[in-house]
Amino acid sequence: TPPELIRNFCIIAHIDHGKSTLADRMLQLTGVVDGRAMRAQYLDRMDIERERGITIKSQNVRLPWAVTQPDGSVKEHVLHLIDTPGHVDFTYEVSRSLAACEGAVLLVDAAQGIEAQTLANLYLALENNLTVIPVLNKIDLPSAQPERYAEEIAHIIGGNPEDVLRVSGKTGAGVKELLDKVVAEIPAPVGDPDGPARAMIFDSVYDIYRGVITYIRVIDGKITPRERIQMMSTRATHELLEVGVISPDPVPTVGLGVGEVGYLITGVKDVRQSKVGDTVTSALRGATESLGGYRDPRPMVYSGLFPLDGSDYPLLRDALDKLRLNDAALTYEPESSTALGFGYRCGYLGLLHLEITRDRLEREFGLDLISTAPTVVYTVTMEDRSVHSVTNPSDWPEGKISDVHEPVVKCTIITPTDYIGPVMELCQSRRGVMGGMDYLSETRVELRYTMPLAEIIFDFFDSLKSRTRGYASLDYDESGTQASDLVKVDILLQGEPVDAFSAIVHRDFAYSYGLSMTAKLRELIPRQQFEVPIQAAVGSRVIARETIRAMRKDVLAKCYGGDITRKRKLLEKQKEGKKRMKMVGRVEVPQEAFIAALSTD
Ligand code: GTP
Repeated sequence: TPPELIRNFCIIAHIDHGKSTLADRMLQLTGVVDGRAMRAQYLDRMDIERERGITIKSQNVRLPWAVTQPDGSVKEHVLHLIDTPGHVDFTYEVSRSLAACEGAVLLVDAAQGIEAQTLANLYLALENNLTVIPVLNKIDLPSAQPERYAEEIAHIIGGNPEDVLRVSGKTGAGVKELLDKVVAEIPAPVGDPDGPARAMIFDSVYDIYRGVITYIRVIDGKITPRERIQMMSTRATHELLEVGVISPDPVPTVGLGVGEVGYLITGVKDVRQSKVGDTVTSALRGATESLGGYRDPRPMVYSGLFPLDGSDYPLLRDALDKLRLNDAALTYEPESSTALGFGYRCGYLGLLHLEITRDRLEREFGLDLISTAPTVVYTVTMEDRSVHSVTNPSDWPEGKISDVHEPVVKCTIITPTDYIGPVMELCQSRRGVMGGMDYLSETRVELRYTMPLAEIIFDFFDSLKSRTRGYASLDYDESGTQASDLVKVDILLQGEPVDAFSAIVHRDFAYSYGLSMTAKLRELIPRQQFEVPIQAAVGSRVIARETIRAMRKDVLAKCYGGDITRKRKLLEKQKEGKKRMKMVGRVEVPQEAFIAALSTD
C-alpha cells in the first residue's frame, strides 16, 4: 500500500472508558469481522484480560476503509489500529505503541470526563507529536454530559468544544464519522522507501504454535519474507519465516513497506529475543543507525513468591519459566525463607504486573501461592563508599550506612474538588511533595505530587479510592530517586529474626510498623510450652515488644472419645499440620500464622 493511503492510529483512554468496545465496532464497521463472528471485545484475547476487563497485551489490526472524495470517487485507505496497554505499569509499552502511530483517538467517557490515565497518555501522545482526535464515548448513557465534558477537553487540548466528536461504542453511533476523521486529520506516514530497512517493534507475544510473534511498524525500506533480519540492540540475526498483516487473523504477505504495520515470525521462542522498542533491520546491508527510544525493561517492584505446599516448588519454577517466554519484564531468582520455605524473588514492572503474574500462576498452573510485601529498589551507600542495590530487606547491608536512595514517581491525581482536602492529607501522610494543582473545570481538579514509589505500592490506590468514594483517579511515572532516611525493621521471635517480616521503612514509620506487626503476630502464633517474646528492632535497638504467654494446660486432654473415622481424620489433619509447622529457633509456628500475618492488610 502506498504510504499516502495509510493511517496509523491508536486509542488512548482511561480504564473502562470503552476502548475495547469501540475497537470492536471498528472491526465490524470495516467488515473485518462480521456480526456473527463478533464476540464482545474481540481484541482482548486472554481470558484473564476478559475477566479483569483490562488490556494487558495489545492486539493490532489492519482495517480497510473507503472514503468518498469530494468528486464522488471512492478512495480505499488502510487504517492500522494499534492497541495500547491500559495501565501505568506498562508506560514504556504504551510509549512504543504511540511511537508507531501518527495519530491518537483520545477517548473520554461522556459520563465521567477526563481521568488521570487519559491525561498521562495524552501527554505521552503529545510528546510523540501525534495528531489527537478528541472523542466523547458512551453518549447513549442517560447520565452522559457531553456538553460539560467537551468543554473540559477543549480546555485541556485547545480547540472548540463543538469539534469534539460524540460516539457510542455500544450502539455504533458516530463511529463511521470517526473513521472518516481519522483519514482526514491524521497525517500519512513518511519514510524513505529506498533506504535500508528499519522497523520498530512495538509488541511481541509468545504463541505456543508459532513461537514469538513480533509486531512491527516499518519506518524506512521494506521487510520481505525469506531474508535474514537483525535486532539492532543485540545485533542478533534471525531467519524470517513469515511476514504478514493482522486482519483480524494473521495473513502472510509479500512484505511490509513504509508506514505499514504487521507481524513477523522468526522461530525464536522467547520474547526477550524480540524486545519492544528495538529496531529490526536486514542482516545484509542493514541500517547502521537504530530508530532510538529503546530501553531494557527494568523491574521496579520486587516480592517473594512461595508455594503454600513446599512440594510445589519445582512446579513453580516450571510455571515461571513458561510465563517468562511471554513476559520480557518478569525476572526471578531462587529465595529461601525461614518462615515460608523455598520460593522465588520476583521482579515486576509494578503492582498490577505483580498481581497479574500471581493470578496467572494460580489460575493457569494450579498453584497456591503466598507473596511477601512488595519492595522497591533501594541504593544503599556505605561509609566505606561501597554501594549496594537492595531489592529484599534480608539483603540490607550490615555496618555503617552513609545514605539511602529510593525511587520516586510523579503522580497525577484527578479528583472532584470536594475531596481536595482528604487527597492532600493522604499524599502528605505518604511523604508526597506537591508539584502543582490545576482546575480542569469548576468541579474537578488535577493534583500533581512527587512521591516515593514505596508509598504508592503500599495500598495507596485503595486508600485514595476510599477517601474519594471512588471518584479520584491516579496515574504515575517514574522520576528518578531521592535520598531518604530509611531503616530496616526486623521482627524477632524469641530473639530470632523472621525474614519474611523484615521491612524497609522511613524512620518516622518504623515504630508504627513494629507495633502493628508484633501485635498481629501475637494474635496469630499459638501459645508454646514457654514464654515467647515478639520484638521489633532497628539494628540492635528494640522498638516494640509483645509477649505470647506460656501454655497453661495440656491441650491433648481434649482428644478422647468420639467416633473412630473422625479421630482418624483428625490424626491425618494433624500430620498435614505438622508438615506445615515452621521452627523459628525453639518456637513452633504454623505456616498459616505467617501467611495470615502477611496477607492481612
Ligand atoms: P480497559 O481495557 O479496561 O481499558 O477498558 P476499555 O476502555 O477497553 O473499556 P471496555 O470497552 O471494556 O468498556 C468498559 C465498559 O463500558 C463495559 O462494561 C462496556 O460494556 C461499557 N461501554 C463501552 N462503550 C460503551 C458505550 O458506548 N455505551 C455504553 N452505555 N456502555 C459502553
